[in-house]
Amino acid sequence: MREKNCIITGGTSGLGLSLVKKFINNGFFVHIIARDNAKIKKLLNYFYERNFKSFNFYQVDLADESELKKAILQLKSLSEIDVLINNAGALFIKKELNSKGIEKTFVVNYLSHFFLTISLIDLIKKTKNSRIVNISSTFHKFAKLNLDDINFSKNYNGWIAYCNSKLMNILLNYKIGRVYDNSINCYAVNPGWVNTNFGNNNPSRLRFLLNLARNKFAKKPSNVADDIYNLCTGQEYLDYSGKYLLRNKVVKSSKLSYRQDLQDKLWEMSLKMIN
Ligand SMILES: NC(=O)c1ccc[n+]([C@@H]2O[C@H](COP(=O)([O-])OP(=O)(O)OC[C@H]3O[C@@H](n4cnc5c(N)ncnc54)[C@H](OP(=O)(O)O)[C@@H]3O)[C@@H](O)[C@H]2O)c1
Repeated sequence: MREKNCIITGGTSGLGLSLVKKFINNGFFVHIIARDNAKIKKLLNYFYERNFKSFNFYQVDLADESELKKAILQLKSLSEIDVLINNAGALFIKKELNSKGIEKTFVVNYLSHFFLTISLIDLIKKTKNSRIVNISSTFHKFAKLNLDDINFSKNYNGWIAYCNSKLMNILLNYKIGRVYDNSINCYAVNPGWVNTNFGNNNPSRLRFLLNLARNKFAKKPSNVADDIYNLCTGQEYLDYSGKYLLRNKVVKSSKLSYRQDLQDKLWEMSLKMIN
């Protein structure tokens, strides 16, 4: 039997790290897209101590298209791709642009994942029972999406940029469902409130508040990873393809997310942006 391939973005922290461990422990070969060299080294040590061999690292800052392109070229040489988990995500309270002048929340949380998914979609499609998971959030409900001004030329608001990106994850998921007429299994997943490092790249006051709330109410990332692993391997979830899920149950997403004109516009715009 061949070893199954799973690709995970943001695999050195929080939910992504738990997913990496869960998939490797269950016999998958895991392709880990991560940007931080120190975190990669730490995880390498963890793997060596346990004699884990089924992994490959791709050091990529998802804000940088050329770095992602290199990883995609390597990943395209795989014969099959069983699971792609578009997990990496960040909140930028202060506006930041990438080297092409595009706002980073949009690029890291959405556009890079669009690029990765579209580039690998033929391989994913030809792999039997393969799955794509797009990690979204309840916050998508607070989006104020203006696709004509993705860069927030006026009045940047980091939370709104984050909410918009999480809505885009769902719009993309629904569009893939439509374009591929459910010949590809794709799921938009709301992981709920999870105890991770999310938001820790921001000023200390916000970090303090996030950590306070997290320590009190959030779930363990390993529990959420278990759900996502089941979603990616259980036959019973094939019928849920193209849907938005919370704890592996189909739930409703916001009204905006179902708008096909928005899904189409975002798709066309994204294709142009990645050339
Ligand atoms: N935590 C929650 O309660 C919650 C709730 C709803 C949705 N989510 C979503 O869950 C996903 C995982 O987040 P998390 O909670 O596990 O947070 P986390 O611990 O901060 O993990 C986020 C991961 O994304 C990676 N990442 C961020 N910017 C990147 C970039 N430019 N290039 C490459 N990788 C980058 C991070 O890498 P570094 O470690 O190098 O920064 C990290 O591995 C995100 O999509 C988030 O929106 C989280």
